[in-house]
Amino acid sequence: MRGVQAQDWDARYAEKAQWSAEPNALVAQLCADLKPGTAVDLAAGEGRHALWLAGRGWRATAVDFSAVGLDRGRTAGHGDDVTWVVADATTWTTAEGSLDLVLVVYLHLPEPETVALLTRAVAWLRPGGRLLVLGHDVDNVAHGVGGPQDTAILHSVERLAPVAALLDVDRLEQLPRETPAGTALDTLLWGTRPVSG
Ligand SMILES: C[S@@+](CC[C@H](N)C(=O)[O-])C[C@H]1O[C@@H](n2cnc3c(N)ncnc32)[C@H](O)[C@@H]1O
Repeated sequence: MRGVQAQDWDARYAEKAQWSAEPNALVAQLCADLKPGTAVDLAAGEGRHALWLAGRGWRATAVDFSAVGLDRGRTAGHGDDVTWVVADATTWTTAEGSLDLVLVVYLHLPEPETVALLTRAVAWLRPGGRLLVLGHDVDNVAHGVGGPQDTAILHSVERLAPVAALLDVDRLEQLPRETPAGTALDTLLWGTRPVSG
């Protein structure tokens, strides 16, 4: 049984906008030079990354189980250019080999579900397509600030290693993120589905 359900996120989004309308700085930095193609933003929330990609010419699909979160993105600039899908990320699927980019940014599920979901996401990529996973690191609880405090659902280099093994990896690391409250610790996985093999 998952701890936080769609209705909990709906209530959070109904209360107020949760995230900046701007993309996460690292997501923007890593994706800025990619040739636009077809992208899926899994657990897109208010769709800030899908909207940013759409503004740069991508065909972007935003998937989240919170209809309220997605509705906020739908009414934003470039909202008409994004495909909005209300679905559970653990069961939603698309055609294998069909995507140029999958983003999974601050989605936190129990480790086995995370690995299963990301393994499916790799299969959705065409050879040469890219996966970007960014989220709170397990060490953030003891040594960082903010974010979920349940270490069972947080990322680490070790926990993402089985997914990294499916990719040509550019980056798999813990990295600091400066916030007004202090330094948070994130985990980043950034890699490409191999062209052969
Ligand atoms: C911290 S927010 C991040 C939103 C977005 N990725 C961003 O960076 O702005 C986490 C999001 O995950 C979504 N989420 C959590 N579990 C999910 C699931 N099983 N299926 C779909 N969405 C889920 C929540 O609704 C929420 O929008």
